[in-house]
Amino acid sequence: QHKLSILRDEKTSTKDFRELVNEIAMLMTFEATRDLPTEQVEVKTPCGIAKCNHIAGRKLAFVPILRAGLGMVDGCVSLVPAARIGHIGLYRDETTHTPIEERLIIVTDPMLATGGSAIDAISQIKLRNPRKIVFMCIIAAPEGLEALKKAHPDVDIYCASLDEKLNDDAYIIPGLGDAGDRIFGTK
Ligand code: PRP
Ligand code: URA
Repeated sequence: QHKLSILRDEKTSTKDFRELVNEIAMLMTFEATRDLPTEQVEVKTPCGIAKCNHIAGRKLAFVPILRAGLGMVDGCVSLVPAARIGHIGLYRDETTHTPIEERLIIVTDPMLATGGSAIDAISQIKLRNPRKIVFMCIIAAPEGLEALKKAHPDVDIYCASLDEKLNDDAYIIPGLGDAGDRIFGTK
């Protein structure tokens, strides 16, 4: 929440905004992967055998929604370096660069406003038979959260803040403005 308060600040620079988005994404990945199934393995230490837990089966993939979702990927991958990464762009056909079947798919996008982008992205990802889908955003509007829950009730949603409402232009209030512009320095 401390990092989020700096992220929201209109005076925060593009450099700091990018770093904060990644730091928050890393912390949220910790929560979103908490329930990954594990299996027991035996590890030989220099002093004996330790019973340890490994993540079981195929692991996970992060799928950022272009463009702003890309801003979260480095943070996610710093926690799960071996994860596959897919990409989804909503102004063109889905382009996934790696297989996602049977994996936990963590879809990243900093903003859930009306929910339209997340709903469409998840519908497309479902066609690829993932084992489970989690949606991870930094700020959500109540309207978007309700719409996403209704459209995809099987998807777990993680957000760092549930804000007040959308304005007439479908921007989140108080939100943080346009996440893509602030990450990529385009405004
Ligand atoms: C922003 C944001 C989400 C979407 C949320 O992306 O990153 O993808 O809007 O709004 P919604 O819930 O009403 O769909 P935008 O389309 O502005 O593109 P960008 O990531 O390139 O900035
Ligand atoms: N997309 C953004 O980047 N910000 C909003 O407030 C709404 C949609």
